[in-house]
Amino acid sequence: MHKLQLINVSKSFGLHAVLRNLSLEIFPNELFIILGSSGCGKTTLLLGILGLQQFDSGQVIIDGIDVTNRSPGARNIGYVPQNYALFPNYTVFENIAFGLRLRKVSKNIIQAKVRQIIDDFGLQGLEYRFPSQLSGGQMQRVALARALIIEPTLLLLDEPVSALDIETRQKIKAELKELQKKLHITLVYITHDQQETLELADQLGILNNGTIEQFGSPDEVFYKPKTLFVARFLNTENMLKGKILHKFGKKATIQVNDIVLNTYTSLELSEGDQVTVCIRPGAIHLSTHHRQPGRNVFAGTIESIHPIGRDLEVKVLVAPHEILKTRISRIVAKELKLTHGMPVSLSIDEAFVHLIPVQ
Ligand SMILES: Nc1ncnc2c1ncn2[C@@H]1O[C@H](COP(=O)(O)OP(=O)(O)OP(=O)(O)O)[C@@H](O)[C@H]1O
Ligand SMILES: [Mg+2]
Repeated sequence: MHKLQLINVSKSFGLHAVLRNLSLEIFPNELFIILGSSGCGKTTLLLGILGLQQFDSGQVIIDGIDVTNRSPGARNIGYVPQNYALFPNYTVFENIAFGLRLRKVSKNIIQAKVRQIIDDFGLQGLEYRFPSQLSGGQMQRVALARALIIEPTLLLLDEPVSALDIETRQKIKAELKELQKKLHITLVYITHDQQETLELADQLGILNNGTIEQFGSPDEVFYKPKTLFVARFLNTENMLKGKILHKFGKKATIQVNDIVLNTYTSLELSEGDQVTVCIRPGAIHLSTHHRQPGRNVFAGTIESIHPIGRDLEVKVLVAPHEILKTRISRIVAKELKLTHGMPVSLSIDEAFVHLIPVQ
């Protein structure tokens, strides 16, 4: 059974249609990330799932039950808002106890449960502080504890780590993964950060233009974007304009300026069709040994070498008008003594030469 299902939900503010007939399915115990740029409707989507804001149309189904007309309290969803939204006049203890007090749980049980979760989240000693006396990471933990104390099976997180420094961010992300495994909860996590998405998601959806433009695992979406928007949004390094030369079954040969590439595709394409060829650097192997040019093997010269994070991006000129970008670790680059103008050969994994048809 689906944990959460949205069927054709829409939401407009005046004339501005933010969500348009959006449908999605999230399975139990999945960490599902909705990735989209700022202002594309991520928070609007979460508020509708929670029932804090009504969709104009469509259905919200949780565990097979239609909750579209239920109040937020009756949906039993945990929620960590974008800015944490801790109650400023409540202590850490009272902030965490809030959901239980609302449900009229007895004092003794509240004491015991809040104590336990304070221990679990390493918040001992901070019980009687107010939110203004906490660091960002501590506020984040209080917000998570407050959401989890009601024992939801579905937890919605709105850009939970975007306000934190890198170290705290990594720590909280690791804790979230642990928590998900331990408590068997389904997490819906929204962010505009693709790195975070690739690190954390079991499945993801790219939100664009009011709908989910592509669903899939991080690898599927990253290596096989279905649309130009998704390819660009995920910064596909090599996006080349090409034309189908031959297509036989799933085998396709593509002319890209002065080079010919081979791949397999299940797209319905015919000879002469225009395509965009997407290749990630991970699919391009660089070697300093001379290799006979052939099927997806090219001889070229190094055009430039730039640092990108811990790696180097190496641009290789493989034909008078064709540059391919690949990545290599700094250590390997040093061993190979890569320099500008050096002759190298590139071989490209056919499974990762991906095509997007040009409409
Ligand atoms: N209550 C509202 N009234 C009018 N317009 C709204 C309202 N809430 C959101 N919007 C508009 O709807 C669009 C989507 O907003 P939303 O907050 O869902 O974006 P988001 O994807 O969460 O952005 P961010 O990443 O910046 O948090 C924006 O253009 C926003 O201005
Ligand atoms: Mg938002």
